[in-house]
Parts: sequence; structure tokens; C-alpha cells
Amino acid sequence: MFRKIGVISRRKEYLLNLVYQSKRNRRSITSQEVFERESKYGAHNYHPLPVALCKAEGVFMWDVEGKRYYDFLSAYSAVNQGHCHPRIYKVLIEQAKVLTLTSRAFYSDALGEFEEYVTKLFGYEKWLPMNTGVEGGETACKLARKWAYTCKGIPQYQAKIVFAEGNFWGRTMSAISSSTDPSSYGGFGPFMPGFEVVPYDDLAALQQTLADPHVCAFMVEPIQGEAGVVVPKDGYLKGVRELCTKYNVLWIADEVQTGLARTGKRLAVDHENVKPDILILGKALSGGFYPVSGVLANDSVMLTIKPGEHGSTYGGNPLGCRVALEALRVLEEEKLAENAEKLGRILRSELNKLPKNIVSLIRGKGLLNAIVIKEDIDAMDVCLKMKDEGLLAKPTHGHIIRLAPPLVITESQIRECADIISRVISRYAK
Ligand SMILES: Cc1ncc(COP(=O)(O)O)c(C=O)c1O
Repeated sequence: MFRKIGVISRRKEYLLNLVYQSKRNRRSITSQEVFERESKYGAHNYHPLPVALCKAEGVFMWDVEGKRYYDFLSAYSAVNQGHCHPRIYKVLIEQAKVLTLTSRAFYSDALGEFEEYVTKLFGYEKWLPMNTGVEGGETACKLARKWAYTCKGIPQYQAKIVFAEGNFWGRTMSAISSSTDPSSYGGFGPFMPGFEVVPYDDLAALQQTLADPHVCAFMVEPIQGEAGVVVPKDGYLKGVRELCTKYNVLWIADEVQTGLARTGKRLAVDHENVKPDILILGKALSGGFYPVSGVLANDSVMLTIKPGEHGSTYGGNPLGCRVALEALRVLEEEKLAENAEKLGRILRSELNKLPKNIVSLIRGKGLLNAIVIKEDIDAMDVCLKMKDEGLLAKPTHGHIIRLAPPLVITESQIRECADIISRVISRYAK
């Protein structure tokens, strides 16, 4: 169609047509077309809810037909600050105009500024930046092994890292090697050696395992997110801290999902006032704009890794640093932990009124919650019905539905959402 504009090169015409087509597609594509195109051209490694989104703001998302939904997943807790937060957006655009990537071959004026802020905020001496949550986990494991050989005196390559049953920390070979979920590890062996698993929320079992002098670290989520928002007994995290100290084992807390205000405190470990030796952050660290992750530790651990021994091309890039700095400031200045704590209580108290013959348990902290429904009810079916009523949530395991809205949600909105959930669940009453 652009030929008629005048004499333009074939390549220019091709590019203009691409832009035109993509604008046209964005305007007119239907949900069904979105599903079919992804299915045809994309790998089938996810099982999404059938909703085709094209826009989001705050707690809301819109599909290509213009229907509005409450987001009750927050991209697995990456969008704690709400979708397209204007402050983070502004910083992203401003930084994108001037400097996006230097690699760590050079210094930038952004990395140190972020490192100073994040270390002071969480009370650690050093920050090591990566991109995705799973890279944060990999980094923590590498730090633990390096520390095992250079500090704890474990014989070369005999260090063990202990994980909790039901853990989820991503999809790399290491992450699935520690997994107890066949849908994560099945078909992908051989697996990483030197990994052991203990039952979650079981201090006696942990004590037995940590007594092995070859153990260098215990990595655990303060609340297990993907396992179905499994909240350990009060005192578990304190017990983990004590046992790790007693046996000279590093405690690695994976706060990729639970951290950054999600559970009603800045960190989930703050509920028991304990401090891990290595803390992994990700997801909401960049408010959904850009993958930023990393680990915090003190010098005695962090400086065991020397120049050239670990890194990532994008890790610590100026764009990510500025975005993450603003994302953290938003969490602090908008008091999103306090909001999560207050509204989480309201949500759970409303959900606890649901009929007990359909819902067996409501659990969670802050705005990381789950409904455990009776096993004969299909959680996916419940989520599809909630979608029709304008609320997007996703099952974690079979009969568990995670409820994790952006933390900017208001009290009247959370009550409206509790009504939607209640309306849908009540339909299953016999
Ligand atoms: C606790 C936890 N750790 C790590 C990860 C991995 O993060 P990413 O998907 O960004 O690699 C996840 C992802 O859901 C997670 O829930």
C-alpha cells in the first residue's frame, strides 16, 4: 500500500508495511486469533488461562476486546507496585534516552548508586546484580560453594547444598535438580550433584542434615509460593537461623516471590526478625518493567568470588539499576508493605466466610494468599469462572488458587474482589 506514496525502496516499503500491519493487528486482533498465533508459532511450555491481554494499569488489565479484569496474580508477584507505575515508567524512559547497557567491562554512574541504596536498605555489605530470579538462585549457590572451599574448609568439590521439599526457584538445570516436583525435573536428567532435600517446616530433620560437615548452605523460601503459598509454623525461620549458625552453614533465603512488601513486611523474614546470610531478590525489584535480580551478602561471603569468576552481560546495567532504584523507592514511599498487611487481613477474613464444604483452607500473609479448595473441584474451572466475572487468578497445584493482587489495591477494591470470588465459589455449593 505504501508504493503509491511515491518512489521508496523495497526495504523501506517492507518495513513500513510491517509497522502498519502490527498497528492494524493491535487494533483488530481477537482473543481467539491471539491464542491460535501463539499456539502455532510459540513453544508449548506454558498453559495460560485463555485471556489475551493488551493493556494494564495499577490493579487492572484489559483484554483485546476491551474487557477489564482485576489482576490477582501480579505476574507472579513481579508487579507489586501496580502495572505501568508512572514513576518507574518515567525513570525507564529517561534512562533509556541516555545509557542502557555498558556491560561490566566498564563502570557506569548508575550501578554504584543502586548498590549503595539496596545494601543500606536491607542491611548488607554487598550486592551482586543479575537479571532473572533463577540467576539470583544460581549466584547464591555459587557463592555458597566458593565459601565452602575457601572459608569452611570443605574438601574440594564435596560441598552440599540443602533445599526444602516443595521448593521452586526457576527452570535452569540447577533449579530443577533441587526440585521435588516431577513436572519440573521429569525428563531433564542427569541432575546437578551435591544437592540434598529436607522436608519443609521441619527443624528436627534440618538439624540432622546440617550436622553433616560437608553441608555449606540451606536455601529456602520463607513462604513457599509455587508450592501453593505454604506458610511455615511460627518460629520456623528463627529455628533455621539458629541451626545454620550452630552448624556454620549459610542460610540462603529465596525472597524472589515473598520479598519486597508482598507478605506485609519489606521481607518475609522480617516477620520473625531474622537475617539470612544470603538474600535473593528479583521479580518486583523492577516493578514489572525489566528483569532485575541479585543477591545480598556480607563481605565474608561475597568477596569469595573474584573478578572474572561470575557475572552476566546485562547484570547491573544502568537501565535496570535506575528502574530498580525507583521500584524500591515506590515500595517504601507508598508504604506498600503496610497496605499489603492491612488488606491481606481483610481479604482473609472475607474469604474465611466461604462455605467449608468447598474451601478447605485459606492461608497466606499480607497479599500472598491461597484458597485451598476440595480436591473434587477443578481449580482451573474456578479460575475460568472468576475470569468471566472479571478477576484473573491462576491455580498453583491442582486444587490451590493463589491470590496475589498488586499491592496498590484499595480496601473497596479488595472487598469487591472478595465478593467476586465468593460469588464464584458459592456456585459449587451442592
Ligand atoms: C521463589 C522463587 N524463586 C525464584 C524464581 C525464579 O524467578 P524467574 O522466573 O525470574 O527466574 C521464582 C519464580 O516464580 C520463585 O517463585
